[in-house]
Amino acid sequence: MKKILLGVTGGIAAYKAANFTSLLKKRGYEVKIIMTENATKIITPLTLETLSKNPVCVDMWHEKAHYEVEHISLAHWADVVVILPATYNIVGKIANGIADDMLSTVIAATNKPVFFALAMNVQMYENPILYENIEKLKKYHYHFIEAAEGMLACQDVGKGKLEKEEDVIWEIESYFLAQTLEGKLKNKKVLITGGPTEEAIDPIRYLSNRSSGKMAYALAKAAVAAGAKVSLISGPTHLEKPRRLQEFVSIRGAREMYQEVESRFETCDIFVSCSAVADYRPKEYSPIKIKKKEGDLRIDLERNPDILLEMGKRKSHQILVGFAAETNDIEENAQRKLEKKNLDYIVANDSKTMNQEVNTVSIIKKGGSKLEIQEKAKEELAYDIWKNIL
Ligand code: C5P
Repeated sequence: MKKILLGVTGGIAAYKAANFTSLLKKRGYEVKIIMTENATKIITPLTLETLSKNPVCVDMWHEKAHYEVEHISLAHWADVVVILPATYNIVGKIANGIADDMLSTVIAATNKPVFFALAMNVQMYENPILYENIEKLKKYHYHFIEAAEGMLACQDVGKGKLEKEEDVIWEIESYFLAQTLEGKLKNKKVLITGGPTEEAIDPIRYLSNRSSGKMAYALAKAAVAAGAKVSLISGPTHLEKPRRLQEFVSIRGAREMYQEVESRFETCDIFVSCSAVADYRPKEYSPIKIKKKEGDLRIDLERNPDILLEMGKRKSHQILVGFAAETNDIEENAQRKLEKKNLDYIVANDSKTMNQEVNTVSIIKKGGSKLEIQEKAKEELAYDIWKNIL
């Protein structure tokens, strides 16, 4: 998926098409743009031409003479068509078979996936006619990126704001990546733990680790994109909560995480333990702040439950996937854990990749087979991990 045909319609969010185009170019896409006549009142074709480095097409009849019919050649050229912003009007036109300008004609003429990134006034967004049109289009190769909530250009507060440009790109990329999973995660119940745990010393201090939760969140997002019902049990992170999860459960300590996992384990199909669970916690929690005194302070630690080990003992139909972040003898340690914890897979990585955007991993399967995946963005790696497990 490299060629994106972007359709810009005349909602006030049309100006965001500039940032969207620039983000796509930075990610290596070739972008061609069609604007509706109304969109040109909000943002000039020149802006989008400069950013896309391609001529922008508006009018069906004033284009330079071509040997090919323009709307058909654009429809063929694209790998995917994205309408951003998509107004009430364009959705209504396509749902009702109207093709009266360049953009609607190209949408009608393409058999490639078409994504509508919706943006409009909240009342229009809640109009049941829009809903009916969307439902009708969803039966075909049309996909919708729902609007977000917030303060709208008309000063109304509600649903109707264009989803963040980065998230629109994520939705589209994950659609294509999810295709590679061939529906194998569809409706599967997936339980994922992620992030660090915090083991309280007193109301102010705690013991923790450097886990960012990025790998777990990427796995959750990929599973959601592939149609799974995902429960994400997360320690404290600075990450944005993935969209469309079945549940998001926020915990602090390992014992809390244990309880949340235990109550869901029986009914899940796949359990991915990607959190960096603290192995020890302070033996005694001080309900009041520990004051500093002369000399050293000693804190005794006691063992936390090993969540994955316990679930490994209870495993019946579930697929169990563990992670092993190590500083040394990475694969030997991972192999040992795979056996000890009765896992189906273990993903071994160097602890240096904690908190990084990229990761290099080995996926080791019960019985010995091993796959190495060289440095990749965690968001992409998540799909490789899923592909392998399935
Ligand atoms: O034994 P180690 O902690 O290195 O094993 C790593 C795997 O075990 C990870 O999947 C991690 O989430 C899980 N784990 C756990 N409970 C612990 C410690 C680790 O579930 N107390």
